[in-house]
Amino acid sequence: MKNFELWNPTRLVFGENRIEEVNKHIPADAKNIMVLFGGGSVKKNGIYDLVHTALKDRNVIDFGGIEANPRYETIMKARTLAIKENVDFLLAVGGGSVIDATKLLCVAIPFTESEPWDIIKKGLGKKVTEAVPFGTILTLPATGSEMNSGSVVTREETKEKLAFGGPLCFPKFSILDPRVVASLPQRQIVNGITDAFTHVLEQYITYPADAPLQDRIAEGVLQTLVEIGPQVIANPGDSTVAGNFMWCCTMALNGLIQQGVPTDWATHMIGHELTALYEIDHARTLAIIGPNLYRVMFNNKKDKLAQYGERVWGITEGSIEHRAQATIERTVEFFHSMGIDTKISDYTEDYAEVAKTIVDRFADRKWLGLGERQDISLEKVQEIVEMSI
Ligand code: NZQ
Ligand code: ZN
Repeated sequence: MKNFELWNPTRLVFGENRIEEVNKHIPADAKNIMVLFGGGSVKKNGIYDLVHTALKDRNVIDFGGIEANPRYETIMKARTLAIKENVDFLLAVGGGSVIDATKLLCVAIPFTESEPWDIIKKGLGKKVTEAVPFGTILTLPATGSEMNSGSVVTREETKEKLAFGGPLCFPKFSILDPRVVASLPQRQIVNGITDAFTHVLEQYITYPADAPLQDRIAEGVLQTLVEIGPQVIANPGDSTVAGNFMWCCTMALNGLIQQGVPTDWATHMIGHELTALYEIDHARTLAIIGPNLYRVMFNNKKDKLAQYGERVWGITEGSIEHRAQATIERTVEFFHSMGIDTKISDYTEDYAEVAKTIVDRFADRKWLGLGERQDISLEKVQEIVEMSI
């Protein structure tokens, strides 16, 4: 196991009927609270009303209309309003998109050096020294954004989808109330399972690193998702199952399982391009790319693939290579069993240039070696994407 430092300051407030407590988690001296939300689901399912009732004695400024895969341009509109209204606390009410938008907003409000896109483009996330504090009410278990300091934002103008993060981007608190799952369309539940599942794989399907506890926690999250995934799809209104699903998604990407071990993240980096180019749901891009990345990088990953196959899927017969191959196939079957298509051509007909476009973008950004060994070269990226068409 490698040396590590673990710091996570987010207060997690879990359980039914806890949205009603939101007021007490917001500092008493916060004068102007901006409530951020998406395209309207919170108004239909009653969460918006719960939040506004809980904050009835506060000065609240609404900012709605944050799109899935949040746009920089929209976040800049929120910034203008927040500055005008002297906003001193932000409350994100939504899924990963609303939370990620709020993370950029929190550091963009006091940022005056240049245009706030530079925070992302020039990697200033870890250097900025000022931020407006924020909390979240999670409405879609998937990304783990509610308990990490990362964010992914799309710039419409250039069709770039890029990640950034930094210590000021941890939420002060996040409320995980399982009641929110009841109104989720099946498509979003399935996306959530797939995203969380892949988050674990990105931090686990690398090479053995003498970190048996991280391995067991990772496998525990995967096993639990396999076990309860079908139950939450069948009955999203069951708060017990929904709560366990939420907790899995948070645990998959709150920083814990990545400590002391190598991590990959190339599936996400390639996947983000597919969303930027074709607006394919984030989780689905991972189901497209992940298995092919394992096929191309097979020698690097076969030991952990075989371990994952044995411990999560009960694949115990044959050589390491045989088990590792069978495990990749089993993982694809799992995605298919939830109705997730795993080829780019299932989503778009406009794929002739896709591999070249992605490789050119990575070359421009000097992303020349990805993955846990930094040996996923541009040629390998090309091979992975071509295999995914
Ligand atoms: O916009 P509204 O009307 O609210 O509808 C949303 C949206 O259309 C809907 N929804 C959310 N909660 C609902 C609901 N519908 C009914 N009932 C509810 N309770 O679901 C749709 C998708 O929402 P979105 O927030 O986009 O989904 P998700 O949470 O999957 O977030 C995806 C974004 O997060 C980024 C992705 O790249 C993508 O931009 N990620 C963020 C990460 C992070 N910050 O750590 C890591 C991830 O790997 C990921 O990259
Ligand atoms: Zn993800």
